[in-house]
Amino acid sequence: MDDSRITRLAKHNADDLAMLVQAVGWNIPRDQIHLTLSTGQMVGCWRDGRLVASAGLYTYGTELASLGMVMVHPAFQRQGLGRTMVNRCLQETERTRTPVMLVATEQGFPLYQAVGFKAVGQIGRFERVGDDPSQSAHASPPSIGVAAEDAKDMVSMDARTYGAPRDRLYHALFRQNATGFVCRDASGVRGFALCVHRQQMLVVGPLVAESSDLAIAWVRDLTRRWNGRIRLDVPSEQTAFIAGLSQLKFRETMISPLMLRGADRLPGQRNRLYAIADPVFG
Ligand SMILES: CC(C)(COP(=O)(O)OP(=O)(O)OC[C@H]1O[C@@H](n2cnc3c(N)ncnc32)[C@H](O)[C@@H]1OP(=O)(O)O)[C@@H](O)C(=O)NCCC(=O)NCCS
Repeated sequence: MDDSRITRLAKHNADDLAMLVQAVGWNIPRDQIHLTLSTGQMVGCWRDGRLVASAGLYTYGTELASLGMVMVHPAFQRQGLGRTMVNRCLQETERTRTPVMLVATEQGFPLYQAVGFKAVGQIGRFERVGDDPSQSAHASPPSIGVAAEDAKDMVSMDARTYGAPRDRLYHALFRQNATGFVCRDASGVRGFALCVHRQQMLVVGPLVAESSDLAIAWVRDLTRRWNGRIRLDVPSEQTAFIAGLSQLKFRETMISPLMLRGADRLPGQRNRLYAIADPVFG
């Protein structure tokens, strides 16, 4: 295919990307589309002035990168565009030998396998419909805010847990009005949870904690403060946490393979990661 029609995407392409998101049947709110454009390196393929394919790479130093926003307009699928977009993103990571992870959809799985990704785990999506869904519109999300002195410690605890520095992503999340819970003692931050209020729903993640008891205590607290929907994307090895979520009436609504290329295992102290930031960012 003609590479000249592939360009880098920037903030001013938000409308084009929103149309592509709609064409593949995804539901990604505007602020999230802006976040994917501003925090990563996105490429797009154009036909007759229309964006028909995209992919984004979110690099965290040379320790790890996350691949996301891989979409091909249904009218142009199975023509090699998805593979071309993904390969474009992988070029730079091959030069720097950076491992790449992703959370795959069922449709994307064969493409990722074809370009060398292997399944290393699973991410379960857990959702809790509020006690009384009709009241959701009246409930107000908890607004605790993240204090500046906590923000620095949160970013460094995340770097140890995730195994790669994600300062840029965190600062974008803080700017997006993310609220949070922070637990600290004399030795520093022992865990934290970030929450974003999106489309009448509270999306929780990252959730990083020293124990599953602490992680579940925060979620229980959230269910008391907020009677609307809550969603978390949880690594499936967190079995004790998942058992706690079931007791709090969370249901698993989707399960997606976690895939990796360029390494056998994910870096960091992953046993402390109870909810990921977002499938796009890892
Ligand atoms: C997943 C997606 C990006 C694939 O894009 P595409 O342009 O159709 O993929 P390609 O034509 O480049 O396919 C490359 C290879 O992937 C595999 N593949 C892609 N789609 C496949 C499918 N539906 N079934 C089986 N294999 C498939 C094949 O090995 C294919 O090579 P081949 O055509 O030579 O056999 C596209 O289907 C899409 O946008 N889906 C909706 C959004 C989505 O789920 N994105 C993935 C997010 S993780």
